[in-house]
Amino acid sequence: MFDTRLFSFIIVICVSFTLPATVDLIPNEYFKVQSRTWDQAIVMAKLFVSQLTLEEKCNMTAGVGGACVGTVFPILRLNFTGLCFQDSPSGVGDGVLYSTAFAAGIQIAATWDRDLFYQRGVAIGKEFQGKGVHFALGPMMNIDRNARHGRNWEGFGSDPYLSGENSFAYVQGVQDQGVVATAKHYICNEQETNRFHATSRHRIQENPSNSEGYSANLDDKTIHEIYLWPFASSVAAGVGSVMCSYNQINGTQACQNNKTLNGLLKGELEFLGNVMSDWYATKTGVESVLGGLDIDMPGDGLMGFTLVQAVKSGAITEARIDDMVTRILASYYLVGQDQGYPSLDLDRDAIGDNHKINRQVGTAGMILLKNTNNILPFNVTTDKYYYIYGSAAGQSADGSGSGGSTQNGGALYQGGGSGFVHPTYNIDPITSLMAKGRDFHLEIQYITNQYDYNDINSSFHARGFTNAKCLVFICAYSEEGSDRTDLHPLNDGDKLVRLVASGCNNTIVIVNSVSQLNLEAWIDLPNVVGVIWSGMPGSEYGPALVDILFGDYNPGGKLVFTLAKNDSDYGTDISPTYESNYTEGVFLDYRHFDKYNITPRYYFGYGLSYTNFSFSQLDISKASNEKHSASVQYRERLMRPYSNFGSSRLYEPVYEITFIITNTGKVDGSEVPQLYLGFPAEAEEPPKVLRGFERVYLSAGESKQVTLILTQKDVSYWNVVNQKWTVAPGTYTVWISTSANNADIKLQSSFNV
Ligand code: BGC
Repeated sequence: MFDTRLFSFIIVICVSFTLPATVDLIPNEYFKVQSRTWDQAIVMAKLFVSQLTLEEKCNMTAGVGGACVGTVFPILRLNFTGLCFQDSPSGVGDGVLYSTAFAAGIQIAATWDRDLFYQRGVAIGKEFQGKGVHFALGPMMNIDRNARHGRNWEGFGSDPYLSGENSFAYVQGVQDQGVVATAKHYICNEQETNRFHATSRHRIQENPSNSEGYSANLDDKTIHEIYLWPFASSVAAGVGSVMCSYNQINGTQACQNNKTLNGLLKGELEFLGNVMSDWYATKTGVESVLGGLDIDMPGDGLMGFTLVQAVKSGAITEARIDDMVTRILASYYLVGQDQGYPSLDLDRDAIGDNHKINRQVGTAGMILLKNTNNILPFNVTTDKYYYIYGSAAGQSADGSGSGGSTQNGGALYQGGGSGFVHPTYNIDPITSLMAKGRDFHLEIQYITNQYDYNDINSSFHARGFTNAKCLVFICAYSEEGSDRTDLHPLNDGDKLVRLVASGCNNTIVIVNSVSQLNLEAWIDLPNVVGVIWSGMPGSEYGPALVDILFGDYNPGGKLVFTLAKNDSDYGTDISPTYESNYTEGVFLDYRHFDKYNITPRYYFGYGLSYTNFSFSQLDISKASNEKHSASVQYRERLMRPYSNFGSSRLYEPVYEITFIITNTGKVDGSEVPQLYLGFPAEAEEPPKVLRGFERVYLSAGESKQVTLILTQKDVSYWNVVNQKWTVAPGTYTVWISTSANNADIKLQSSFNV
């Protein structure tokens, strides 16, 4: 146990750790990665810039036409062939051939498994690099503030800490392959409604100053503690690029926002890479350049060559142009793209064996929500008869073509918009279930026309139905550019579940959803005995689901948002106007439910397993400098030549939290212990906030000691008066829990500072 008398102050540990010149990376087929430190990369970039004319430099600050969704001007006389920027966060997008549609951001987050976060990043990075793409336009880390936001599926859920951990690992996975990652969309891009001036033409005429995207209006504490947090993690990881968003922040457009770009990002976070605009998010030339924007994408005349005149007239200094181009090229040198990077061929097959990691992520991110009397997993010897209902069980009638997995029926592998990856193949649940049926002699029938109520009713009288397991597939789709109109499944999915449950006492619902869904129409029906949240699992959906249904994989995913009983319980929603007021402050998702004592249907962090776990021996100690200590290992794991932890020491370990977890059941499985922290009153924090987690895999009967690290930032709050991350004096409570539900807390202790 932690002795509070010994630790009256947090002492920041001052360790100097030497950066390796190169890191040992997963062997790479195409390209030997030699990444560099920012200092080294900046020296090289400056040398390059010193050889350019003013015209060449300005040309590099805006996109030009090319094969990629964004292209930076080549300087052929210096053997610089330009830069290719390409979507998306979940694989190489924009309609290219030979691409893996990876399990989406929301799915990888639901695995709560840092090794998988990283391995997925590596696999994605390999495909970008194999095609010769220089910048991957991901990760997407906007917070799931609004359940209906059309792009929630691209991001990592509602918690900043969880999003930050995901962003960090993604950046390293991608950049370890020599590809520059792009953290987007900076910042407070939490809705699609009114994101763009094109939808508000009448307002432009009325008042030109309102011609831009909606304004996210929020205070200093909230932006630091919630929305900036994952971007800060990306910068610490060493991200090369940040994409500014369509919206305004407190009345100023994101891509010319001096406060958020020059102040927070380049100043406070010490970001050394470049800021690129989201596509057509640049509204001005000179003002944006002065506000901190470095590249205009895809380039429509506001920057680029136009800036030559601005320099000549004195509106912009040439030093600022040099800074912009240095920032663009620094990220190129940082990840070693000058060392024989593959030539550009967007349709080159660089898939390798990425289906393996994709299946693993798809499976690990599925969440078991309900399992009455252990109906799951099925037993191939005794459970012989299956009836499948719902169009979301099979392929869409439209194929998985352009613009997103269709909303017109069919299993959903990803959501739509620029984040969608045109998949080389997709395996739907019916296909995989049939293969299982072939191998184990299972009787499998299906009805995918979910409006054929007569057929569904007749199925209840089919031969053998009495013992059938009924699998009902429902889905919810969304895409970039619009928000969902409600939180219900497509195509009367609620009605489908109710109908099947009226005739089948072994109804298992599979929820294939982009983000939050309201389950209340059927969740309490006694015949609904099982619910699996299959999420947005990518191309390997079918195999991943079948592994879970039959117990070849013991589910261990956890919700990355709360599932409310009433939509209004979330307390936040899409703003229908051009002002989106973040009046909830830091009380978002479980922090809000805690504050107002609202009981949700399922808590943030919740998810069942086919086995059980016990917890013991919680201990809190100060971070150690011993060679093999958890703190030292933690630091080593995070380090890369290109890391950018800045001068703040905020990412230094300050506490080690240890405990024992045991698999007390009969099958192997995993649990995700979650560390929630309670702050002293001065911090004005929610009752508890997530500050640590680890997915622990245990054989039946096995025990492991788990160590979670609390960093200086983890125990700090943003002090708006001092403008600093500050440790609040008083008692901190540490809870180890299996969800944000207080009833799931397993261990509790405290420390004083
Ligand atoms: C999206 C970005 C994307 C860009 C390029 C924009 O509409 O918001 O996420 O990277 O297009 O396709």
